[in-house]
Amino acid sequence: MKILNYKYIENKNFEDFASGRVIYHKSGYTNFPVRLAGEIFMTCLDVIGKKDDKAVLYDPCCGGGYLLTALGFMLGNKISSIYASDVSTDAVELAKENLNLLTEQGLNNRKSQLIEMYNEFGKESHREAIISADNLLKQIYSQNQLINCSVFSADITKQNSLSQKDFKADIIFTDIPYGNLVSWSDNSPLAIDKLLDTVACVLNETSVVAISSDKAQKITNTGYKVIRKIIVGKRKIELLQKVNL
Ligand SMILES: C[S@@+](CC[C@H](N)C(=O)[O-])C[C@H]1O[C@@H](n2cnc3c(N)ncnc32)[C@H](O)[C@@H]1O
Repeated sequence: MKILNYKYIENKNFEDFASGRVIYHKSGYTNFPVRLAGEIFMTCLDVIGKKDDKAVLYDPCCGGGYLLTALGFMLGNKISSIYASDVSTDAVELAKENLNLLTEQGLNNRKSQLIEMYNEFGKESHREAIISADNLLKQIYSQNQLINCSVFSADITKQNSLSQKDFKADIIFTDIPYGNLVSWSDNSPLAIDKLLDTVACVLNETSVVAISSDKAQKITNTGYKVIRKIIVGKRKIELLQKVNL
């Protein structure tokens, strides 16, 4: 068990990535600490030996896509493709809207929407969001960002949910359901183990799976080894790789 010492992502102001500012937020949806997300992603990239390269990233419990969208903005020069799925079709719709912000056109449309809202209501929060949209646009240009995004619905506890998918993920990073706002669709105590079985077919030999959960949920899937376990406040993040490859 390890307490996290940040090595890759410096401590700065992440307000441009705040949920509900430029990135869309809906009530009932969770978000994720941005610096922590970046640090975990970079740790995974290091583990797979791609620190100077780009990776394919997949979140099978993507919710509204906050985690993936924030990572796309922050580390877009390290990501070639993003795959996102969730059992909830509403979540999938929100994730699509959010991941579309990673394109120049999607972000410019969002900026126009914020300008319209500012002109209509004159709210300070909208003015600040317009500034953030400009900052994010600069970031997209500076990173020469072009991330392919694909969003679909899938129950990740059902064994064959990904059997028709032809992508391979270098990194799976997911914040699984725990607690008040979101819960597993099937309430099974083995939900994480089932998730690991289901995603196995989209992993390659070196892929890393990073699972963020509360401390109560246990991983007992023997097809994987835990290569790192990190505790941050109430969160536990386990990095796993498939065994016997
Ligand atoms: C903590 S939220 C994820 C939030 C997400 N990381 C974000 O940044 O927006 C967990 C998600 O798991 C989804 N979920 C619950 N059961 C699932 C299942 N069986 N298969 C796939 N997703 C599931 C919920 O719909 C919820 O959106």
